[in-house]
Amino acid sequence: MHRFEFDPTRRTLIRLIAGATLSPLLSLPTGLHGASRKAITKTIPSSGERLPAIGLGTSRTFDVSATEQLPSLAQVLGIFFGAGGTLIDSSPMYGEAERVIGELLAEVPSRPLFAATKVWTRGRQRGISQMETSRSLWRIPRFDLIQVHNLLDWQIHLETLREWKAQNKIRYIGITTSHGRDHDELERILENHPLDFVQFSYSMGEREAEQRLLPLAKERGIAVIANRPFQRGSLFHLVKNRPLPSWAGEFDCHSWGQFFLKFVISHPGITCAIPATSNPKHMQDNMGAMAGRLPDLDMRKRMLAFLED
Ligand SMILES: NC(=O)c1ccc[n+]([C@@H]2O[C@H](COP(=O)([O-])OP(=O)(O)OC[C@H]3O[C@@H](n4cnc5c(N)ncnc54)[C@H](OP(=O)(O)O)[C@@H]3O)[C@@H](O)[C@H]2O)c1
Repeated sequence: MHRFEFDPTRRTLIRLIAGATLSPLLSLPTGLHGASRKAITKTIPSSGERLPAIGLGTSRTFDVSATEQLPSLAQVLGIFFGAGGTLIDSSPMYGEAERVIGELLAEVPSRPLFAATKVWTRGRQRGISQMETSRSLWRIPRFDLIQVHNLLDWQIHLETLREWKAQNKIRYIGITTSHGRDHDELERILENHPLDFVQFSYSMGEREAEQRLLPLAKERGIAVIANRPFQRGSLFHLVKNRPLPSWAGEFDCHSWGQFFLKFVISHPGITCAIPATSNPKHMQDNMGAMAGRLPDLDMRKRMLAFLED
């Protein structure tokens, strides 16, 4: 299997980039300046722990095999941690992503990481081996959260995850999907099984979860991670050439990226959104969504009406 080989020059370069962006003076994202620098956090209902409301997805963006792409991903991580981010979401489904995360985390030793991956295979033993492999790829002693990816063989894996949680091998357990067709089955799982987290798609373009999943998660005390908060980037095409409305300033929003993210994290049922990016400028932009005010209910309606116009 392919392994990245870091020569000393590259290692130094990555350390420099990560170190520089971790410096508070150099890494303030738009919207995290001055009085409103405190990052928005939400509560994980099962523990009371606070979690920064913007995490980092890694599907496709971190699935790279060319070492040339690593410095800019190191910069993405540096900006993420520098702005108060902690939750990184990955999966064995994402190709090289877990290996890349591990290589880069090794270069950023002091970071408040909330490590979240998934199990995505069939069978108890294969699930266990896969989770052990993920842990060694990330180079961490344990995951904070492991979720069953796309409901695959969920009965088997939830049993293992419950055992691992009881043994303190992981802190939280959960389940994910991004397909509307899975929602009925997901609802039954949330109703009948104790879970700390659930992850599904929620964005200004995909709001089906508002009907049943979000209220159910709230009722069951389950934290919600919103995946595809930009609908895989397609929301940006929707607003191409449209200027940001001036009233976006009323909730400290300075870009379309922040407009979409503040909509997601202002839903009271959402714990964390996990936008993915390979672009340091976009990372900086996205972390700005964790600063300042969030839209209230009336403003959320106004945002939707503006987008549908
Ligand atoms: N079933 C599951 O468990 C499941 C399913 C889907 C997703 N997920 C998780 O959720 C994460 C997020 O979903 P996603 O990656 O599908 O889509 P997404 O986060 O909705 O969108 C990512 C796209 O948005 C672009 N982007 C990011 N920030 C931007 C900005 N500020 N301005 C302009 N463009 C920006 C990125 O391009 P650039 O790289 O150019 O910035 C990328 O093309 C995944 O990475 C994964 O971790 C989980």
